[in-house]
Amino acid sequence: MTTMLGLTLEGRDVVFIGGGDVAARRMWRMLQDGARVSVVAPEVSDDVRELIDAHDLPWTARRVRNGAFVGWFCLWPESDTLAELGYRLRRMDWGQGLASEGASALVHWGFETGGYDRIVATTMAVNQASRRVMEKIGMTYARTTPTESSDPIPGREHGEVWYELTRSGWTGG
Ligand SMILES: CC(C)(COP(=O)(O)OP(=O)(O)OC[C@H]1O[C@@H](n2cnc3c(N)ncnc32)[C@H](O)[C@@H]1OP(=O)(O)O)[C@@H](O)C(=O)NCCC(=O)NCCS
Repeated sequence: MTTMLGLTLEGRDVVFIGGGDVAARRMWRMLQDGARVSVVAPEVSDDVRELIDAHDLPWTARRVRNGAFVGWFCLWPESDTLAELGYRLRRMDWGQGLASEGASALVHWGFETGGYDRIVATTMAVNQASRRVMEKIGMTYARTTPTESSDPIPGREHGEVWYELTRSGWTGG
């Protein structure tokens, strides 16, 4: 059985955010281990491009209308039953419901296909937009923890909030 970070990768979906040299090295290894890889990046290196072509991998989430890159969504496995949701959109694309739509779709996938029992997400306590996205997709506030980053970001003194959703509490929306 091949594992990375204690996780069995064979047959699992792995999403790469970014397509540079580090991604190329890890992607090659994960493909060898039998993971199903997708790539989300506005541009990729030649090595990643070769892997994408050779393995027919999906590459980036884009607008159906014009193919423009709007950002990324990620469901990072913490264990076989727990995953952490994350997202980041280009500023010009905020305020159109895209974060809620993408996050909701990924939660749906996590419970229906990924096999997770619990999905968590975190953001700075002062990030009202992100907190609202978490609430809109059905997550509930769990706790506040001190900010890990030492960057002098405004509001860091208020900490980071954690939200969570369990499969049994999920309404399927
Ligand atoms: C947070 C982020 C993803 C939101 O994206 P988005 O596509 O604008 O989100 P949506 O349009 O789906 O929903 C945003 C909600 O927050 C609300 N909102 C926005 N700014 C707000 C504020 N300052 N105070 C309260 N609510 C706010 C919006 O009104 C909307 O709620 P509504 O639909 O009930 O009106 C985007 O701002 C982003 O990428 N930020 C940087 C990265 C980040 O913070 N990531 C989260 C950590 S994982």
